[in-house]
Amino acid sequence: MVVVERDFVIDECSMEDLDRVIEINRLCLPENYPRYFFEDLLLRFPKAFLVARVDGEVVAYVMCRIELGFSDFSFMKIVKKGHIVSIAVLPEHRRKGIGTELMIKCMENMKKFYGAQEYYLEVRVTNVSAINLYKKLGFKVVRVLPRYYRDGCDAFQMAKKVDKNG
Ligand SMILES: CC(C)(COP(=O)(O)OP(=O)(O)OC[C@H]1O[C@@H](n2cnc3c(N)ncnc32)[C@H](O)[C@@H]1OP(=O)(O)O)[C@@H](O)C(=O)NCCC(=O)NCCS
Repeated sequence: MVVVERDFVIDECSMEDLDRVIEINRLCLPENYPRYFFEDLLLRFPKAFLVARVDGEVVAYVMCRIELGFSDFSFMKIVKKGHIVSIAVLPEHRRKGIGTELMIKCMENMKKFYGAQEYYLEVRVTNVSAINLYKKLGFKVVRVLPRYYRDGCDAFQMAKKVDKNG
């Protein structure tokens, strides 16, 4: 039997963690937001705003929002969609499964606490690591959003239906 040692824990984000989350967001992604944006998501969807800690220190986060919208899978049906707004793992902690665990747990919580029926997200068409991660978790490209990002880069919108595993 192979036992994989995990040196991280997944935890709900707290207000005290927000400065660190904002720092990680700025270090890892060109999509940055004002502090009130993070606070708003944390206050409204606390079960879907998670951090990963290594030795007590926050090294990664995921934050989400629940929205009502047209299903990506059933024609003209309005559903509750869990929108994964942003996820980032500090470079030195990547490729250890942290991104995967954050995604799995936030999807589980969006279903359990907020009744999400589908999940979706946007990702740069050039972001191979993230696209691979999402595909591995069962996300499919549902549309291309031309010039979605400020620098003109296109986005893939990717979506996944809630299944029995989350
Ligand atoms: C995308 C990101 C969150 C992945 O986090 P992570 O903790 O390294 O991911 P995991 O270790 O759970 O990797 C899961 C899978 O993702 C894919 N993946 C991750 N990094 C990859 C890389 N550098 N190249 C190719 N595939 C990669 C692989 O399929 C991997 O599975 P494997 O290790 O079994 O091959 C991380 O690279 C990151 O923070 N990137 C910068 C911020 C960002 O792009 N966020 C997403 C915006 S939409």
